[in-house]
Amino acid sequence: MTRVFSGIKPTGHLTLGNYLGAMRQWAAVDQHQADALFCIVDLHALTVDHDPARVRRLSRQAATLLLAAGLDPELCTVFVQSHVDEHARLSYVLECVATDGEMRRMIQYKEKAARERERGGSVRLSLLTYPVLMAADILVYGTDEVPVGDDQAQHVELTRDLAVRFNQRYGHTFVVPQATHPAVAARVMNLQEPTSKMGKSDDAGPGIVCLLDEPDVVRKKVMRAVTDSGRDVVYDRTERPGLGNLLEILAACTGGNPSDLSGVYESYGALKSDTAEAVVEVLRPVQERHRELCADPGFVEGVLGDGAERARAMARPTVDAAYRAIGLLPAG
Ligand code: TYM
Repeated sequence: MTRVFSGIKPTGHLTLGNYLGAMRQWAAVDQHQADALFCIVDLHALTVDHDPARVRRLSRQAATLLLAAGLDPELCTVFVQSHVDEHARLSYVLECVATDGEMRRMIQYKEKAARERERGGSVRLSLLTYPVLMAADILVYGTDEVPVGDDQAQHVELTRDLAVRFNQRYGHTFVVPQATHPAVAARVMNLQEPTSKMGKSDDAGPGIVCLLDEPDVVRKKVMRAVTDSGRDVVYDRTERPGLGNLLEILAACTGGNPSDLSGVYESYGALKSDTAEAVVEVLRPVQERHRELCADPGFVEGVLGDGAERARAMARPTVDAAYRAIGLLPAG
């Protein structure tokens, strides 16, 4: 059976981008068709300036939202990265096959490091080595497929390179995984800045739709989305990024194709109000289930406990094999 692994970082409120680009696919397809693991990657949240209490709170919230989005612990494994030591153990071994040059070429590193420096802060070493930990997350489970949004493609490519290099040098140890992306909405853009990704953030600004935004807040954000000065509603991601983003969101929420929506709308207003309602309808069941789960925190904790136990059992043999292959003496 195909092994699927993916993760989500508890660094802010989860967004419509996370949902359409990744979570929805995990719940609707991956957990039914594969042996799938989904992880709240809390160690990755420590790579930039962070507040410990906030990371804890967001980790719990992310776990609750994954279940609210439809992940079923009977069908897949949901767990927290720091509960399974094998990720960090394998990460160190992979640091011994990765180079600093390839880390410095990672787009997300360059962008995030520049942002930290602009703020006058220093760059944590873990931000540079982040992609190696991500490679460990994936390789430790013998993963075949990694369902992610577009922005993670470079990291998965690096993961493949590290797996191949390790296998060539030390003997076949890792499965070489591949990224999969949703056909529509693989990169949802910020509604106010349609050339930037809709990312998680603290103060979820007007361009970011959060999964827990009230319907009226969603409507307001979508109705105020930046478009352009044209009049016709056509799909052209490059020339008309704001409009293209709305058409993709609408298509993703209604199960269609953005190109088919070209020419269907006579005004931006009509497109925006249909998009707003479509988003509200997609989020409604997730928010309802989230409310129910919040009333039962013991359930979520139990899921994470069982998940970590299952994940550990799967990860252990891979790390043991990698340790042996790279030359470490087995413990008595
Ligand atoms: P993260 O937490 O930023 O995002 C989680 C998932 O959501 C997708 N995503 C988006 N998709 C479409 N449009 C957007 N605007 C958007 N924003 C986010 C991401 O592509 C991702 O699939 N490095 C990863 C976490 C990670 C991971 C892993 C993922 C750590 N280890 C191993 C897969 C496998 C990250 O920061 O995702």
